[in-house]
Amino acid sequence: MEKREKIILVTGSTGFLGSAITQRLLVSGCRLRLLIRKRDNDISQISFGWESLIKERILGDQFDDYSQEQYRVVGERFNNDTSLQELFFSNVEIIEGDITSSSLGLEKQEYRKLCNEVEDVFHCAAVTHFEMQGADEHMDVNVRGTENMLQFANSGKQKRFHYVSTAYVAGQQNCIIYENEMVNEPLFNNEYERSKFVAERLVIEYAKSNDIPYTIYRPGIIVGDSKTGATCRFDNLYLFVKVLFNIKNSFIKRKSGDLNNITIRVPGDPDTLINLVPIDYVADAIVVILKKRESIGQIYHITNPNPPRLCELRDLVITLLKIKGMHVEIDRELEKQSLSAVEKLFLRQTRSYYSYLFSRLRFDDCNTQDVLKSTGIICPVMTTELITVLIDYAVSHNWGEEERAVLQNLHV
Ligand SMILES: NC(=O)c1ccc[n+]([C@@H]2O[C@H](COP(=O)([O-])OP(=O)(O)OC[C@H]3O[C@@H](n4cnc5c(N)ncnc54)[C@H](OP(=O)(O)O)[C@@H]3O)[C@@H](O)[C@H]2O)c1
Repeated sequence: MEKREKIILVTGSTGFLGSAITQRLLVSGCRLRLLIRKRDNDISQISFGWESLIKERILGDQFDDYSQEQYRVVGERFNNDTSLQELFFSNVEIIEGDITSSSLGLEKQEYRKLCNEVEDVFHCAAVTHFEMQGADEHMDVNVRGTENMLQFANSGKQKRFHYVSTAYVAGQQNCIIYENEMVNEPLFNNEYERSKFVAERLVIEYAKSNDIPYTIYRPGIIVGDSKTGATCRFDNLYLFVKVLFNIKNSFIKRKSGDLNNITIRVPGDPDTLINLVPIDYVADAIVVILKKRESIGQIYHITNPNPPRLCELRDLVITLLKIKGMHVEIDRELEKQSLSAVEKLFLRQTRSYYSYLFSRLRFDDCNTQDVLKSTGIICPVMTTELITVLIDYAVSHNWGEEERAVLQNLHV
């Protein structure tokens, strides 16, 4: 008799990482319950249906050759005529709720039913921006939301709990960070880091005292797919490149075409390691680890074992943007000096990432490499070719502007 795959509840599946994980779980034959944030607006107005819209957001154009290939592998276990659409609609149930509400915003009966059928919880939802918007948004979603998910895991059927943390729970430390529980609270760069630290600690304490098998994943800074460049987030690396790209274009437009003698100073330590990890590596690694029994009670750094230095990234980007003659100098003490209008603009637009340009963190990823050693999954090196793929995608998708406009029009 064919073995039935487990039912996994995924939060954050409409997001960048959650959608990549959902795609992989789906093509590997898992049955999924996706807890999607409830919308205030009347979604019945959307003619092609809410579920289709969610499907588009999750599968999108990131449903690439890799996934198609994986799908063919599991396809043999399904009827060969089953289309991807059918696979989605037959193996995925969408549940509208809110992780910040007790009982996840669900009716009692629905909550109880879900508690009794789900065997794994993959908790990926979070507020991920660094700005303070509203009093307690980070604590509310990232900490109280995680607490609600833990209570869910502790009700009904026994469940495994997978929690997506971040490598940056390490805050402002300046040493090698190992894949173990962080005992002392470090200084943090922002409320996002603090809330993720508190939530991670909560997961470990709650799971230990309630005998919930847990696994924690700590990704580095996630960028687009290493083969296609596909991404739905255009922050971190993209923001810096976009600002430089715009500065170059405005010089060209104003016909001050001679970029030869222009030097722009940007803040940072040239030797800072920027831990960029492509989304396909992060999602592939997590899905392999998630299926292992040995990963219970462990923490995994899903980070780049060979991250580029800030000055190397600068050189790659300058070559790529073909900014001949425009010099970008990385200056450790920039803020103490008087700045040109362009430098002020650069600083203003990248302010929320400022502290990461001075980070002294290095991440040990022995646990992850141990699991991945015979899988062929390796973190791609940040070469000129890879950065080109990433930036080409961003430029050809106008840094995500079109998608943002579509989503705004649909009010989703
Ligand atoms: N991106 C990175 O570089 C990075 C690095 C390290 C760790 N991480 C961690 O990875 C996880 C995913 O990050 P991401 O980059 O994929 O973030 P993202 O694109 O911003 O997605 C966040 C997801 O959380 C959902 N969500 C937010 N509030 C919710 C609520 N109250 N109820 C239900 N769902 C809610 C969002 O739903 P909506 O679609 O409704 O907004 C979305 O699906 C997070 O835990 C983050 O801390 C990310």
